Amino acid sequence: MAETLIVTSSTEKAERYEMLLPQIESLTNGEPDLVANLSNIAAALKQTFGFFWVGFYLVKENELVLGPFQGPIACTRIGLGKGVCGTSWKEEKTILVPDVEKFPGHIACNSDSKSEIVLPAFKNGKVFLVLDVDSDKLNDFDETDSLHLGRLMKLIEAFA
Ligand code: SME
Repeated sequence: MAETLIVTSSTEKAERYEMLLPQIESLTNGEPDLVANLSNIAAALKQTFGFFWVGFYLVKENELVLGPFQGPIACTRIGLGKGVCGTSWKEEKTILVPDVEKFPGHIACNSDSKSEIVLPAFKNGKVFLVLDVDSDKLNDFDETDSLHLGRLMKLIEAFA
């Protein structure tokens, strides 16, 4: 396993993702523990992009429960269809929110969070976790994040 994460000096988001994904692949390769892998993924995303909050919510029975993350403390449980995370779970799709105040039902775990992207990952055809990334800037996520974080979700599905 690589001990050091290499972060490109490029400010291009796409280049940062291109450099990060293969490193995440080798970081998780051969490690069967989901929590260990998700913890390192959250840390690697934080280290690469400096996201305000980045982490996972895992489907447990009929709720999303807070999993490995980096950033300020957050809500521990989210219901199906609640907030951006619960909506991504319910609708089984990526949700990009340029301005959280304009998303009906957004759950403000932290008032500094201004924009957000949430992506689901699937096991046996069902959502089993979501990745939530929050920014303290408006309109901070776009199709580049959606595309590359989508690739990350496929990687997670492959080892989970
Ligand atoms: N804002 C999210 C809740 C999770 S925190 O932001 C970490 C939502 O509306 O689902």
